[in-house]
Amino acid sequence: LHYLDHNATTPPLAEAIEAAASVAKRAFGNPSSVHAAGRAARRALEDARERFAAFVGTEPASVVFTSGGTEANNLAIHSALFEAKGGRIVCSAIEHPSVLRPLERWSKRFGFKLVKVRPERNGRIDPVRFLNACTEDTRLACLMWANNETGVIQPVFEVAEGLRARGIPLLVDAVQALGKLEVRLDRLGADFVSFSAHKVGGLKGTGVLVVRRGVRVVELAPGGGQERGRRSGTENVPGAVAFATALGKIDFASLRPLRDRFEQRLRGAIPEAVVFGEQAERLPNTSMVGIPGLDGETLLMQLDLAGFAVSAGSACSSGKHEPSHVLAAQRADPRAARGAIRISLGPGITEAAIDALVDEIVKAKQRLEAMAGVLA
Ligand SMILES: Cc1ncc(COP(=O)(O)O)c(C=O)c1O
Repeated sequence: LHYLDHNATTPPLAEAIEAAASVAKRAFGNPSSVHAAGRAARRALEDARERFAAFVGTEPASVVFTSGGTEANNLAIHSALFEAKGGRIVCSAIEHPSVLRPLERWSKRFGFKLVKVRPERNGRIDPVRFLNACTEDTRLACLMWANNETGVIQPVFEVAEGLRARGIPLLVDAVQALGKLEVRLDRLGADFVSFSAHKVGGLKGTGVLVVRRGVRVVELAPGGGQERGRRSGTENVPGAVAFATALGKIDFASLRPLRDRFEQRLRGAIPEAVVFGEQAERLPNTSMVGIPGLDGETLLMQLDLAGFAVSAGSACSSGKHEPSHVLAAQRADPRAARGAIRISLGPGITEAAIDALVDEIVKAKQRLEAMAGVLA
């Protein structure tokens, strides 16, 4: 099997699994307990927190462990809007559903005006247009660091700088940026930044929200007051340790030549193939391509049979057949968008596998066209 769906999730790294298993056995105590078993668990948790903080360039006290990227995004949104009485929320139209859906709910339930800023045709949000949409009554702005579908990198530094000057809180979803780009939060200066472990070789069900010093967090699920009163519930120590262990261990940057080879070969074989976001800067491991006349889901199934795991649109909300909201927002050609598949590379992939993938896509296209010919 060639697993080419690392933006959906990565296989957990052996060292992350081992670190989690070891701490689950060795440091099984409740980190809030004062006895030796509790103190061992507390040490493991705080060590993971320090390592995470150092990796992303923040202070340990800013790191709040959560159950994943989805919860981290929701916690930030809840915190920013909890005390607000109306006003505006600005986000990009290409945010992950774990940002879009809570914002839509807040807007519907509490009357915030939700403004979704569309990307340019290349998939990138224009920072000036985004900042102009943020009027003085804006309670929260949300801009992802890199898009999970197209891989297009967003102008988070320009937007963070523009908003800081005006005191408007910013949430940056950095789930796809971590490990694939240099993520230094000391240079970014956003109020909230979200992360997820399973995209970088950690375990599913672990995430982080980094909260800028002095920014208030309002718990989503009040309880025992763990994580300095910001996220209650007995901490997932093995998950946190696995996350810290995985950081920086997958070399995504070196995959760019293979990604480029895929796109070149595909276009050599199928000249009408579209590479979405090609004119913008993108994550080095990600390629979303559209083959006009094909259906992405059908192509995905054909590739699955041939031993290639790819995704059609966003696998994070799979089971849906609507065209990708990301491609629609950047006004992609609907025929190409219908035939869209995403490959997201990880370690172990070879040139031969890339070439075999392109061959399979060509074969699948021929098969599907022949079938359509018979039916016509
Ligand atoms: C950009 C982005 N944000 C948030 C998430 C959600 O993270 P999690 O699966 O940890 O809830 C994902 C992927 O699932 C993602 O790609």
